[in-house]
Amino acid sequence: MTRELSPIDKAKFAAAKKAVDFVESGMRVGLGTGSTAAWMVRCLGEKVRAGGFHITGVPTSTATAKLANEVGIEVVTLNEAKWLDLTIDGADEFDGELNLIKGGGGALLQEKIVATASDQMIVIADIAKEVAHLGAFPLPVEVIQFGWQTSKTLLEELLINLDVLGREAVLRMNGDTPFVTDEGNYILDLHLKRINNPRQLALTLNQIPGVVENGLFIDICDVVVIGAGDGAVETRDINAGTVENHRVDVPESDNLFSDI
Ligand code: 5RP
Repeated sequence: MTRELSPIDKAKFAAAKKAVDFVESGMRVGLGTGSTAAWMVRCLGEKVRAGGFHITGVPTSTATAKLANEVGIEVVTLNEAKWLDLTIDGADEFDGELNLIKGGGGALLQEKIVATASDQMIVIADIAKEVAHLGAFPLPVEVIQFGWQTSKTLLEELLINLDVLGREAVLRMNGDTPFVTDEGNYILDLHLKRINNPRQLALTLNQIPGVVENGLFIDICDVVVIGAGDGAVETRDINAGTVENHRVDVPESDNLFSDI
């Protein structure tokens, strides 16, 4: 069934479409997770199906692996690819230094491993994701199921001495049962309101026993591609210090990949 795209959908599409320009045939590409990344996977699939363009994709979740297969992208594991040219992924928040909060979709662990194993990470986002200070979006922390309540208590005690405004940790639910990640772990969402020292927080959180990884991506993202609903796209490269503006055609409905 065809669905009309909202302005946010169009903004996400615009960012995804522009970011695909960074991908060259032959590249090994990390494929992010979430609604913005899904547009990117569909746009990449369209280029592959058109012919003369081949990539190897490493998905960051079972959902992305399924979508990549459906749209015709060759999928391998990170162990098979070993290292990637590029990863393109969404984000829940990004700041002026391109530090990120990720994990709203629960895939932060694979996302961080894959992005870190890439020469370059490009974040695709709508403008609502840009913040002066990270932390309004609850920070996801992946914990193992064993003793998760103890990990939660330890996390809340740790936060008392850290430079944040909120300190509540909430177990993520999926209906009546805890949300379980692709690795079989739980997620605690930390309601911090404002994170004044994301670098310190990212390092400190991972010292708690039971914590597998947190959703702060520090010094990992190189480029952010920010889309707007009218097709305007801004590309910021933190290493080159450049800002470029472009425009892409945005569709009115999601019925744009009619060959699959
Ligand atoms: C998944 C993520 C996503 O990239 C993040 O939640 C953004 O999602 P969306 O593009 O749907 O807004 O980190 O774990």
